[in-house]
Amino acid sequence: MNKIAQIFQSLDYGPAPEGPEQANAWLDSHGRKFGHFIDGKWTAPGKTFSTDNPASGESLAQISEGTADDVNAAVKAARAAFKPWSALSGYERGKYLYAIARAVQKHARLFAVLETMDNGKPIRESRDVDIPLVARHFYHHAGWAQHLSREFPDAVPYGVCGQIIPWNFPLLMLAWKIAPALAAGNTVILKPAEFTSLTALLFAEICERIGLPKGVVNIVTGQGGTGEAIVAHEGIDKIAFTGSTEVGKAIRAVTAGTGKGLSLELGGKSPYIVFEDADIDSAIEGLVDAIWFNQGQVCCAGSRLLVQESIEDRFITKLKTRMASLRVGDPLDKSIDIGALVAPVQVERIRDLMKRGVAEGAVVYEADGPVPANGCFLKPALVTNVSPANTLVAEEIFGPVLVAMSFRTPEEAVALANNTKYGLAATIWSENINLALDIAPKIKAGVVWINGTNNFDAAVGFGGYKESGFGREGGREGMAAYLKPAWEKELKVAPAAKAIAAKGDNPLDSAHVDQTAKMYIGGKQARPDSAYERLVFDPAGKLIGEVGEGNRKDIRNAVEAARGALGWSTTAAHSRAQILYFLAENLDYRRDEFAARIKAQTGEDGGNEVALSVERLFAFAGWADKYDGAVHNPPMRAVAAAMVEPLGVLGIVAPTARPLLGSIALIAPALAMGNTVVLVPSSQSPLSLTDLYQVIETSDVPNGVINIVTGDSVTLAKTLAEHDGVDGLWFAGSAEASTMVEKASISNLKQTWTTRGLNYDLADRRFEGDYFLAKATQVKNVWIPYGA
Ligand code: NAI
Repeated sequence: MNKIAQIFQSLDYGPAPEGPEQANAWLDSHGRKFGHFIDGKWTAPGKTFSTDNPASGESLAQISEGTADDVNAAVKAARAAFKPWSALSGYERGKYLYAIARAVQKHARLFAVLETMDNGKPIRESRDVDIPLVARHFYHHAGWAQHLSREFPDAVPYGVCGQIIPWNFPLLMLAWKIAPALAAGNTVILKPAEFTSLTALLFAEICERIGLPKGVVNIVTGQGGTGEAIVAHEGIDKIAFTGSTEVGKAIRAVTAGTGKGLSLELGGKSPYIVFEDADIDSAIEGLVDAIWFNQGQVCCAGSRLLVQESIEDRFITKLKTRMASLRVGDPLDKSIDIGALVAPVQVERIRDLMKRGVAEGAVVYEADGPVPANGCFLKPALVTNVSPANTLVAEEIFGPVLVAMSFRTPEEAVALANNTKYGLAATIWSENINLALDIAPKIKAGVVWINGTNNFDAAVGFGGYKESGFGREGGREGMAAYLKPAWEKELKVAPAAKAIAAKGDNPLDSAHVDQTAKMYIGGKQARPDSAYERLVFDPAGKLIGEVGEGNRKDIRNAVEAARGALGWSTTAAHSRAQILYFLAENLDYRRDEFAARIKAQTGEDGGNEVALSVERLFAFAGWADKYDGAVHNPPMRAVAAAMVEPLGVLGIVAPTARPLLGSIALIAPALAMGNTVVLVPSSQSPLSLTDLYQVIETSDVPNGVINIVTGDSVTLAKTLAEHDGVDGLWFAGSAEASTMVEKASISNLKQTWTTRGLNYDLADRRFEGDYFLAKATQVKNVWIPYGA
């Protein structure tokens, strides 16, 4: 034991351990062996596996491996509980969520210690970050439950939700999943990660204790196989997953075509950008939080330092000094900075990645300092001398490893920041507000922190762009992810479109001689690459025109043109509105001609369809400057500006029916929100859109904002789905083709909307509202220091 005088001399930390006694007593009270929590009861433990303390390697308890039968039983319980639970008033459901929040607070220390023992994270973090945020999440969502019918008047819950979570924030991820699901009226089956199930099991006990109706929350433990059984189960209406991008893509493949709801919160490789005018000491402290919080096992970890060249040397020197004072050790010690990684397999994974990176030229710096000999400990590491192609720069490491690169200009910083398949988060440090707020919108990420990092709050949505997934957790967007329009379940299978086929030998009459319409790409009419034509007939089978037969190359050109026109997203909403109004006006001016063309193609009343199309353009011109963001007030010295951003390039494959309105109803909301579009019009009746080129040209639509490729819908949809330059895809067509589109979209995890053969009547005024606006956008939350 150090004498006080000695302590004053060395100024060393003494040990300050948090006691594990109560957590051990709780484990003992369960005989250190757990079954599942299904239908409000504990099942007898089945085949079990050990959950270990990664700091010591000791086994903490045996956990049951969930079988298909267990998942069945849980789905049955959740299904039975759904009706009464969703029928409760929002106030009643809110009171249960409130009771959970209070119970988590009352048992906060037990939760924190148990979390640290099972996961290895420093007690300082589980005690001061994870568990308080869990309570905050349930409080926040108690309010949403109560206000649900007012705030989401036409929405209903999905039903039974399957939720699969990772091991890095075990109880916090549970809260992010369960709180909004329950507030919306869903019931859940949650599978914790195999390394960290204990706090979820303690949570089940809390549900029991507060009298949550049985079957509302079911906890089934197990490994990946149990997760697979949940994802594949036909009785589950929505899957919510947080974890690796690889597993996220596998889940997307299994759910494709099933009509199940899906939200994915996946990996990241988030940039941490430091400009030369930053407050360097604050930026260093922020960086410690960004990359060494939770040993770097954070999906939004600021793992790529981008520092301006002029301050690079000074910054790296200071960083190394700071790294030397980070203490690695017993996670239960209150003055430890870096605890244990979750499991030996993760340590091995990180070491392998480091070896690969070093073989590719990376230089690794680790500060001197003691590290426990046993357990899953790694020193904090700084990697330099890397190019963007280095494995350590490109791959998510999910460990205490920072890679550093430098940039010269703000443009270069943005280019480097966006040079990743991920898009979860980003941090910007600068004392120049103009610079910081100029860069924030240019970063493709769901969360941007300015002069701060790793801020989270229940009121602020969290989630990614690109391969970091889709859907948001937290706030209004997070609630929306657990709700769907009430009318969707009323949709019937679409009647088969009237097949139109050639009859007779069918010469084009002389009035149509020049009617071979081209594609419309980058503001110019373009011949089809295939040099083949597609014949268009009227319902009597008479030839009425020819259009180009689009192929892969035409789509590629159109996507390129659409990407080149993405400046449209930063055009003022007022200007976008004006252009949509102008399109409407010019279409209306030629209404008779368009009506006649519709009549010729379908035999139906064209006048009505043109009028509806004009009205729809007006509707979305009206929305362009109104469907915008919000400002949140999280409980810290910051505001979060929830900015509504377009997805980017949208592929739109219009329905066969209603040749004009079918396309207008989809492109109008996409354009209003700032997306650029590659449109495939009705393959049977495309002439209404090829006629539209001149209207587009006379309406000041910038080149490349609308691109039109005619041809076979399903073939072209497949090409759009597989194209990584397409950010979202809307497809109207059969169930079979919709499944194909969803499966083919996995490569870049593009967001899809498909009709799955159902009768979405686009003439209905419900489609004038926010239904497509929400699908055309994603929310970016920009955290900005604010107030005292
Ligand atoms: P993982 O993605 O395999 O595990 C996450 C959860 O998914 C666990 O509950 C697991 O049991 C379950 N799971 C695994 N395979 C499944 C399947 N086929 N179907 C349904 N559920 C399945 O993550 P893992 O292997 O534990 O970690 C590997 C790497 O993934 C990490 O090193 C890190 O790079 C990344 N990761 C990212 C996370 C994030 O929050 N972004 C969280 C966890 C891991």
